[in-house]
Amino acid sequence: VLKDNTVITVAGASGDLAKKKTFPALFGLYNNGFLPEGIRIVGYARTKMDEEDYHKRVSQYIKTPIPAMKQKLEEFLKICTYVSGQYDQDDGFEALEKELKKCEESYKDKEAPKNRVFYMALPPSVFTVVAANFKKHNYSEGGINRIIVEKPFGKDLESSREMQVGLKKEWKEEEIFRIDHYLGKEMVKNLLVLRFANVMLDASFNKNLISNVQITFKEPFGTEGRGGYFDEFGIIRDVMQNHLLQVLSILTMERPVSFSAEDIRDEKVKVLRYIPEIKPEDVLLGQYVAKDDKPGYLDDETVPKGSICPTFAACVVHINSPRWEGVPFILKAGKALNEQKAEVRIQYKDVTQGIFKEITRNELVIRVQPNEAVYLKMNSKAPGLAMRTVPTEMDLTYKRRFSDLKIPEAYEALILDAFKGDHSNFVRDDELDIAWKIFTPLLHWIDNEKPKPAPYPYGSRNAEGFDEFLKTKVGYQRSEA
Ligand code: BG6
Repeated sequence: VLKDNTVITVAGASGDLAKKKTFPALFGLYNNGFLPEGIRIVGYARTKMDEEDYHKRVSQYIKTPIPAMKQKLEEFLKICTYVSGQYDQDDGFEALEKELKKCEESYKDKEAPKNRVFYMALPPSVFTVVAANFKKHNYSEGGINRIIVEKPFGKDLESSREMQVGLKKEWKEEEIFRIDHYLGKEMVKNLLVLRFANVMLDASFNKNLISNVQITFKEPFGTEGRGGYFDEFGIIRDVMQNHLLQVLSILTMERPVSFSAEDIRDEKVKVLRYIPEIKPEDVLLGQYVAKDDKPGYLDDETVPKGSICPTFAACVVHINSPRWEGVPFILKAGKALNEQKAEVRIQYKDVTQGIFKEITRNELVIRVQPNEAVYLKMNSKAPGLAMRTVPTEMDLTYKRRFSDLKIPEAYEALILDAFKGDHSNFVRDDELDIAWKIFTPLLHWIDNEKPKPAPYPYGSRNAEGFDEFLKTKVGYQRSEA
């Protein structure tokens, strides 16, 4: 655990990710007293700016709804300094080193080891060179060093491996924290507990009782000026290969030997290894088009003309393990749809030889966001003199059940874990590798064959053809999300 004597350097401090996620999370932790005492935060980026400008940027997305927080923000800004420099030149990192040393002079215990955390909120093009420069110029001998890295981790298996080799030339796996922010979401963290602390759920999680599972990600907005980045990656790389596959692996892994990070990640890797690579016929691709006053994907000026980049994808994944063989898992992700939603929907099989007519299937729904909830759909007798069945829900809505508890932000939870040195909710190198293996042949097929995605109007529930796709792949017609 990093207690005192810690400096965190945020590389890419003037970028979007740092402004929108990293600094608000750091402030959230600071505000609640979770950061090591005496922590200092140094921003590093190419943009030249003075401290006032920098502080404006840092606080841009930080919300301070109560006066006490405003005061805390003032305090927080005092520990935030900035150094500008290039990503591939020594002098920038030398200037950074000076600043880090200056910060460390403020420590009470001058003799204690100096800990340094490096947060990489950077585009992939400079990722390896910055990691190497941090190691060369800014590594603390005798202290604890950690590097937090953000996706995209490459574009396919090969580029990901290249990137990891570059990173691991300088940094040990135990020093590396690869963020997939879905692993910091409260409901994703609850998956382990739901599975392994509830005998009835665990016992029902298998091919004998479950018909199919749908893991869905929907957003009600399009690329909105972020098309340049998005177009290079597409929805499969942006959301599915990482966030949705992570959820899938936790949901379906066997019980880990212990709650330790390595035991958990061993099981995740093992279940992922049972997944064969995804074939083109198991995928439905879509791209949104304009509707009313909402622009289409190709109307975004940052998107190359005529791009075939998918903004929607649904694919069926199989896990050929004894527990899951034959159960289709539908991963679905789309931008510019009708709502924001991330959920897992586990649909049980029909009651066999039922004595009741017209009953619906049991479903366990785990809603990751918004409005976290777990609910189980089950049939009940409608109260009254007649014998009539009605579909009902056992409903655990967090807002009601845990109204007095705050749900932490994913980034806060993850940064705190990195400070604690807990890798459970970070992606291990072999996990990343196997995730790319599953999707790379499909991604190369899309890149080479350039299949035209099905157009769907902005704000649709799904891309056109999804219901049909689901029916053929799952053999059942209903989907809520
Ligand atoms: C990011 C993707 O990883 O996740 C974005 O790059 C996406 O495109 C975002 O919008 C979704 O995260 P959240 O936490 O808002 O569901």
